[in-house]
Amino acid sequence: MSARDDMHRHFTEVSPVYRSVRTTDREPVERIARELDGLVRPKGADIGCGAGRYVLLMFEMIPNLSLTCVDTTPAMLEQLDGLLRANGIDGFETRQSTAECLELEPGGYDFVSTFNAVHHFDFPEFLRRSRDGLAEDGRLFVYTRLPEHNARSVWGRYFPGFAERETRLLALGDLHGAIEDTPGLRFAAAACVRYRRRASLERLIEQARNRHYSTFALYESDAFEDALAAFRAAVERCFADSVEWYDENILIQAVRDDG
Ligand SMILES: C[S@@+](CC[C@H](N)C(=O)[O-])C[C@H]1O[C@@H](n2cnc3c(N)ncnc32)[C@H](O)[C@@H]1O
Repeated sequence: MSARDDMHRHFTEVSPVYRSVRTTDREPVERIARELDGLVRPKGADIGCGAGRYVLLMFEMIPNLSLTCVDTTPAMLEQLDGLLRANGIDGFETRQSTAECLELEPGGYDFVSTFNAVHHFDFPEFLRRSRDGLAEDGRLFVYTRLPEHNARSVWGRYFPGFAERETRLLALGDLHGAIEDTPGLRFAAAACVRYRRRASLERLIEQARNRHYSTFALYESDAFEDALAAFRAAVERCFADSVEWYDENILIQAVRDDG
């Protein structure tokens, strides 16, 4: 089975619990909403939209939004559809597609966004496809964690092999270089965000057992159990009560600029 097939199976399996095992941050969506302030009826596309937790936030914070929600995993799109309908939202459509085969209406979008997903994409191809969908001055927003963010997280520090096995995350220089190498896109800004976190060890173990980061799906079953036991022991040594750490992410902004 290919790595892509493995990830497809992983995201299908995790889709029913995905929203409940991940931590969702308002900060990137608040920033995106500020950037789009002034557009009367913003039209966007969110790629790798998953079960819809960031899409829901966008509908809450961006007035008169209409959104094309794209993901390669049908089970994720079903979760998203149920979430938005349960919240009375109908200004959206779902599309099953990979980022690499994305076909947006040329020049039809004010923005393209993607949260926690670019490390699953062929990034240069995703950039070309997104550019083609953007109107002149349209924005591309990429929210992701960098390899160093991953290494400094509670998982990178205490879960054996977590940082080493996660080789898919792109460095800032690679993200910047790929954007600047895409004709018609200009790198506009990057903002790092840092969140203070606190959780019980049991909550962290529940998240890992549910493979809330796809990195955990890269472990064979025995190796996962060994690493989880080592994680428990390390955390118990370092923290008397609840576990505290910082999560970090970056929000990158590019602009369609045909010069
Ligand atoms: C880590 S999840 C993030 C989901 C969502 N953006 C969020 O933050 O909750 C990554 C998502 O990307 C999707 N995905 C993986 N590879 C993809 C590809 N090549 N094209 C489009 N979507 C992809 C997966 O199905 C999954 O829903």
